[in-house]
Amino acid sequence: MDLSGIVGYVGNRSSQEILIHGLKNLEYRGYDSAGIAVSNEKTIEVRREKGQIQDLEASLQLDPILKGNLGIGHTRWASHGTPSVTNSHPLSDTNGKYFVVHNGIIENYRELRKGLVADGVDFQTDTDTEVIPHLLAKYDTGNFLDTVRQVLPLLKGSFALAIMCSTNPNTIIAISQENPLIVGFGLKEGFLASDISALLPYTKEIYPIKNNEIAMITSERITIETLDGEPIHPKKVLIEWDQEEIDLHEYDYFMLKEIMEQPKTIKKTLEGKIKNSHVRIAELEPLLNQYEFHHFEKIDIVGNGTSYHSGMVGKKVMEQLFRIPVEVHISSEFSNEHGHLSNRNLVIVLSQSGETADSLSALKEAKRNDCVTIAITNKKRSNIARIADYMLLTNAGPELAVAATKAYTSQITSLILLTIFLSQHSDKTNAYDYTELLDALVQLPDVVEQTLIMTQDAIDSFAQVTNDQDHLFLIGRGLDYVLALEGALKLQEVAYLHADAYAAGEVKHGTMALITPGVPVIALATQAHLRGKLVSNIRELKTREAFVVGVTTVGDDAVGEVVDQVLYIPEAHPYLMPIVAAIPLQLLAYYAGTVRGYNVDRPRNLAKSLTVE
Ligand code: AGP
Repeated sequence: MDLSGIVGYVGNRSSQEILIHGLKNLEYRGYDSAGIAVSNEKTIEVRREKGQIQDLEASLQLDPILKGNLGIGHTRWASHGTPSVTNSHPLSDTNGKYFVVHNGIIENYRELRKGLVADGVDFQTDTDTEVIPHLLAKYDTGNFLDTVRQVLPLLKGSFALAIMCSTNPNTIIAISQENPLIVGFGLKEGFLASDISALLPYTKEIYPIKNNEIAMITSERITIETLDGEPIHPKKVLIEWDQEEIDLHEYDYFMLKEIMEQPKTIKKTLEGKIKNSHVRIAELEPLLNQYEFHHFEKIDIVGNGTSYHSGMVGKKVMEQLFRIPVEVHISSEFSNEHGHLSNRNLVIVLSQSGETADSLSALKEAKRNDCVTIAITNKKRSNIARIADYMLLTNAGPELAVAATKAYTSQITSLILLTIFLSQHSDKTNAYDYTELLDALVQLPDVVEQTLIMTQDAIDSFAQVTNDQDHLFLIGRGLDYVLALEGALKLQEVAYLHADAYAAGEVKHGTMALITPGVPVIALATQAHLRGKLVSNIRELKTREAFVVGVTTVGDDAVGEVVDQVLYIPEAHPYLMPIVAAIPLQLLAYYAGTVRGYNVDRPRNLAKSLTVE
């Protein structure tokens, strides 16, 4: 079972460079170990290394393998079988005829392995993947495609596969079962990748392989068939993103580039949505043509990690404007346990990648219970976008750093647009004048720009709060509390700080026992109507000599009087403050991580778009 990035190439260029370049652009999907297999039409050579792509590259420079125009590659996030050269892909059968790279999980691999061991197969790894090349060897019909067709029905689970065969040195076979894999069309060459960022330098013409489809890639053509051999005419689609969107430019890390991009990405999320004091979301018009809003008795929002945190902001805003209950769920909990669900539930699935397995399962569970589903995602060709009844794109552009930043602010912007859209199309909501909120949304990109400038100047002194600290607390009330959760997650992810977030009023009910002199606390005070109460909570912490840094809006001086250090940010509409105040928290995590010398784009033990549950 692995999370990973898969690449493949066949054509007239040397495949090694293209594979390595592609793997580098997919490294956010896993960076424990990597490997490539290259064929020169006579023989196939494999090189695998533990560590990042640069380690594989270094090993190839030191001890080159054959040059060939066909190859497959893999970068791995180990979830089954420790990160090691042995467990890294490509994996092959005993005679070295079939070579396989795999993303996902073979749920029934134990039974398959038992059968193969009984046949005398000597397994080399503890991965689930290794059953595949051995099964191909066992059911070898002499015809590459037929052999693959024999084996596929034996495999249970979600998987993306790329396969090479020594007796078919000019063909790659690729399969995608609930796991993303894309083919790219070139002139006398064919490409394969888990995500478009690996294809962008070479082609903009792609086709996402669908479930129950097999792709055969040669330098002449790419053919797609169903598992039962029905030919499919692939409808090519053009990638909207440009190469420059996935280049680092002057930045050291994608995380900082993506933080700094937010004025632009929020503008993209808002693009064409606000007209004459109304929110228009064309892709959701059919929803309201089919259902009156008052058809729904409850809204359920599901997501994981940062997406779950965006959902918590959405819930807080929606429940103040709608007269129906709004609940937010962690996807991995929702897909196994949930209250009554029916067609009266509107389920909103939040996922930047659109491939997170936990959220995909939650979506399927909602559909199994006849709920009406909306996917809010950044990837329009993802599984979650494809399976949901309706989709709202965040349009934040490619996010390559593992830690989500612009995904968070574009998701909240989308949720607020959705809230106004549903409310303006319905009478079953609180009478609310949206003018102020709509004006604030239009000004939001500029306010975020201002915040970046104001915070960057102050960040060095702000980042001191984390120096020589292993523990840190964040507190807030209302929307500041749910923002604090996201701030804590960022510090955990990229600075490996044990950061915890609490509702400010809750600290005195237990956590206060952990407050000792000098312990750092970040107090978020952007909600003016809750600031008085928050100041009393800060006083409680100061009596225990905590070191408190306050984040508040320009013009407020109440917080400045009670904290050790204060960071001012521009004021915006209370509902939008989780977006504005996210900026200093993202930058804090970035600096706290880089000051400690960490690779903030590739945090240890993490990966982006977790395609296994
Ligand atoms: C956030 O920084 C992490 N990368 C992670 O928590 C992420 O938000 C989560 O895995 C959900 O991903 P998704 O939005 O792509 O579904």
